[in-house]
Amino acid sequence: MTTNAQPQLRADNIDEVLKAMTLEEKAKLLVGGANNFFSANAVVGGEATLVAGAAGTSPEIARLGIPATVLTDGPAGVRIDPTRKGTDKTYYATAFPIGSCLASTWNTDLVSKVGEAIGNETKEYRCDVILGPGMNLHRNPLCGRNFEYYSEDPLLTGKIAAAYINGVQSQGAGVSAKHFAVNSQETDRTSVDERISQRAAREIYLRGFEIAVRESNPWTIMASYNKINGEFSMGNHDLLTKILRDDWGYQGIVMTDWIGIREGLPTIREVQAGNDLMEPGQPAQVEEIIKGVKDGKLPIADVDRNVRRMLEYIVKTPSFHKYPASNAPDFKAHAAITRQSAAEGIVLLKNNGTLPWKGYVKTVALFGENSYDFLSGGTGSGCVHPPYVIDMLEGLKNAGIQSSPTLTDIYRKYIDYARVKFQAERHPAKWYQNEYFGQQKYPEFGLSPIAIGKEVQTADAAIITIGRQAGEGVDRDIDTEFNLIPEERALIVDVCNAFHQSGKPVIVIINSGSVIETASWSGYPDAILCAWQPGMEGGNSIADLLTGKVNPSGKLTMTWPLAATDHPSTKNFPGALDDYTFQMMVGNNAPIPGHAYTNHEEDIYVGYRYFDTFNRDVAYPFGYGLSYTTFEFSKPSCRVDGRGTTVNITVTVKNTGNLAGKEVAQVYVQAPKGRLEKPVQELKAFAKTRELKPGESQTLTMAVPVRNLASFDEANSQWLTEAGTYTFRIGSSSRDIQATASVTLKEYTEKTTNALAPKAKLNLMKQ
Ligand code: BGC
Repeated sequence: MTTNAQPQLRADNIDEVLKAMTLEEKAKLLVGGANNFFSANAVVGGEATLVAGAAGTSPEIARLGIPATVLTDGPAGVRIDPTRKGTDKTYYATAFPIGSCLASTWNTDLVSKVGEAIGNETKEYRCDVILGPGMNLHRNPLCGRNFEYYSEDPLLTGKIAAAYINGVQSQGAGVSAKHFAVNSQETDRTSVDERISQRAAREIYLRGFEIAVRESNPWTIMASYNKINGEFSMGNHDLLTKILRDDWGYQGIVMTDWIGIREGLPTIREVQAGNDLMEPGQPAQVEEIIKGVKDGKLPIADVDRNVRRMLEYIVKTPSFHKYPASNAPDFKAHAAITRQSAAEGIVLLKNNGTLPWKGYVKTVALFGENSYDFLSGGTGSGCVHPPYVIDMLEGLKNAGIQSSPTLTDIYRKYIDYARVKFQAERHPAKWYQNEYFGQQKYPEFGLSPIAIGKEVQTADAAIITIGRQAGEGVDRDIDTEFNLIPEERALIVDVCNAFHQSGKPVIVIINSGSVIETASWSGYPDAILCAWQPGMEGGNSIADLLTGKVNPSGKLTMTWPLAATDHPSTKNFPGALDDYTFQMMVGNNAPIPGHAYTNHEEDIYVGYRYFDTFNRDVAYPFGYGLSYTTFEFSKPSCRVDGRGTTVNITVTVKNTGNLAGKEVAQVYVQAPKGRLEKPVQELKAFAKTRELKPGESQTLTMAVPVRNLASFDEANSQWLTEAGTYTFRIGSSSRDIQATASVTLKEYTEKTTNALAPKAKLNLMKQ
């Protein structure tokens, strides 16, 4: 019902509603509410309890029919409180595979299905937006949140994110692509200044977001906490307006990351920069906006522009449409999706022929505490509270494989003890060390060779699960988190020695959100599966692969280095300073590298762009992953279309082995020598086959727009694809190129702006 005095919001009367809003209402709409977790902060509005445990809300203005909307973490499923006061009903949500695992499927159709299921749960739990996908790059293996993110490569990140976003949004729920941008470390994430070249920013760190914006139009984007070249992302006009909206044509809203108030960053600057929603807001911010307009410091046109965008967002939401949330998603259907997507995202790193087990393994000795306390996801806002987690024990049992009762008893007792001890000893300031923020990891303990020897007698094979936990707010430590601890090393060596003496195989399962050291021990076991943190059906997904029910087709989305220090960024990563130097700098009040600022000296040489260009050995290359069958790639054909804007690549993939399986064609492009320095090759397209039977072939066609071959030419503030011959190298990892084809291209340029210029000259790595 619309009256002139009080129009009620509809999709077609946004102008009218905007006109009817008072300045106070406009200011209020730009400042979001918090959930009960953040209620220690002064919370705006009374919407906080709409959905217990959801991260935030956008404010309601009842007079004009503007409903509150609910924002929930994200990204591996809906993160709300699983129980509520005054009811026995539970609100568990499906824990889907973490970002690294999803991306390792290289299967955009499958990721879309996961997105659809997550969108459905978002809506069914009365939420409007899932705070994901996490799209920051794996700049360094030590970042605590790598598990939420997809890859070290921007194209893969953008394509997987677009698939996830299209899936979620097809359900009428929204996403928040985060954290925009250059948020690849957790240490001092709310204040650190990321000092980076325009080229690395545009070409590496922003590229994934650009692809997602262009290919999936996310309803919302979350600005990151950090600064980029001296300016907070949340108040960065270059980032939020010049690049995001003017260059890429983004139409949705931008919100802050949580507890958005940053020292030295006035809210009015955020509004002007193009940040539409302060999350979670504080009353002082509403006042600041009102005063800013009254004092003439904040143009009302900027406020109106952001309010209009908010209204355009709100009319799309389930809350606006009064969607009747069931609070009862279809767990059975979603369990099947998580099981399948995890099985496709798990990567077979080594196999000496022992896998798949075709019935000859009936009893397994299960080692490693995470076999019994399997990590389905990471910690922090990215954790999900699932109704159950299938661990290794249960997964094997479901596949008809028995495990040792002695080991089960030993490990279960240890886990019970460790849980109590850990909680008692936990430091109160370490908020993430709490089950509410995800499963905790307890240290592995030593098991005597005698105990191991006994297991050899009854088991046909051994499995050792090596677990790692990490998450929001803390980066990883090299010695105890990237590397194995002595107890883990001893376990691998002792179990392998004992089982191999009896001719029995040993499989290592890596249950970690991110990369660990493997080179020093990978020679011992017969097979290694990187299972990531594969969601609540993890044990079933792994059993599907062990038994050959599913043929592995996951491929790494990041390089596994020999040592963490092999990454050039490690040198500038927090924690790399020795204690003495650190103390000296603190004492001097000097800004501490890695903390006050992070120098991106490696520039565009992130991940394989570094390792392949500088010819460094790695443990497992980008794109790597084994199968139980073999494939062959035909000679590809590469053709430039009539307008010269797209290169079309066609290649036929044939299953040349004895088992059905899927393969990924990865297209790396080598550019001609030109004015701009280029990595030796860059991923520019990929496609995954359907399941091919032995002897079966599939022809894949991929399109690479010529603009996607461009590098950012800082001197001229433009994208530049230089003229010359480009080689399209097709293979099954960045180091396993099997066929090539070339095309000659004319120069292509696209003018942009001088946005995000560094404040001082940077010292950058060169070839
Ligand atoms: C995290 C975001 C998250 C938000 C809400 C922040 O601390 O960085 O990723 O969505 O909290 O929980």
